[in-house]
Amino acid sequence: MGEQKVLVTGGAGYVGSHACKALKQAGFIPVTFDNLVTGWQDAVKFGPFERGDLLNKADVDRAFKEHAPVAVMHFAALSQVGESMQEPGLYWQNNVMGSLNLIQAAVEHDCMDFVFSSTCATYGDQDGVVLDEDSAQYPINAYGASKRAVENILTDFQAAYGLNHVIFRYFNIAGADPEAEVGEFHQPETHLIPLILDAVDGKRDALTIFGTDYDTPDGTCIRDYVHVCDLVDAHVLGMNWLKDGKGSRIFNLGTGHGFSVREVVDQTRHVTNRPVPINNGDRRPGDCTKLVSGSLRAVSELGWSADKSNMKQMITDAWRWHQSGTYTK
Ligand code: UFG
Repeated sequence: MGEQKVLVTGGAGYVGSHACKALKQAGFIPVTFDNLVTGWQDAVKFGPFERGDLLNKADVDRAFKEHAPVAVMHFAALSQVGESMQEPGLYWQNNVMGSLNLIQAAVEHDCMDFVFSSTCATYGDQDGVVLDEDSAQYPINAYGASKRAVENILTDFQAAYGLNHVIFRYFNIAGADPEAEVGEFHQPETHLIPLILDAVDGKRDALTIFGTDYDTPDGTCIRDYVHVCDLVDAHVLGMNWLKDGKGSRIFNLGTGHGFSVREVVDQTRHVTNRPVPINNGDRRPGDCTKLVSGSLRAVSELGWSADKSNMKQMITDAWRWHQSGTYTK
């Protein structure tokens, strides 16, 4: 039997491209399915590319027919919280309708192992409550709500058709491939660490800290950061979990340690050995005070180890990529 193929939607994006590299290293052929709206063809380096749109079911069917994948990893989504509040229809259509087409096609083509990237935004702002996989979900933005809807679709398709799925609820993703073959590149950029690095090397004047009056030790928001390479390793473990017949399961992907915005800025100053110009700004609408995973289920059950997820390594790898890597349309 030759190498098995895995269909990776969003394989031209930040997390998806790292997943393709991890899948290749694990002996699979990653087939990227991407519409290149936010993804980059330059990031497709580890297997075949199928340009297509999840909203066009014929594109999705074509990819299944052509490649007969043994599993799906579904990353493709719009993922900006602020945008989701201004244009909720975009998020419901793209994230929910697109996912429904994909899930339906997976069942029709008898590809019954499905790994889905969800988010801690499905929990909403629970004011410091420890968030584990059994916590109630109260999303406070359309992005989180759209991801939760897809989780619900998967539950129903499991019950009706036996579609096995692993749902990963991500906390904050950071870092880049240590070999800088792929990395984080959004246009426009909205994420904290790449924005700090832009301020460090003069691509922007300063980092604006969104809110310094939160109820946290230094007044800035706290997040749980996971190295993108650790994150995608969990996906390979999750796919193998399904292949071993262990059944559908939800896993948070976080470390259980929180860093404030100021702590991330301080660490960046340290790693780059350069000043970080900052402005203290107003709160950003939709931001939660503190989001930290309270679960180590992925560690105990999947055997996951988040050993690259220390802030120094995440910033070091992001900085290396920042200095060397770029994609062009
Ligand atoms: N921040 C700043 N200044 C900036 C950008 C960010 O102070 O210029 C702060 C934010 O207020 C937040 C922290 O840095 O406290 C991290 O912000 P990011 O935008 O990097 O990440 P978020 O926590 O907002 O978002 C992430 C994912 C989303 C997901 C969300 C869950 O990117 O996809 O977590 O809340 F939905």
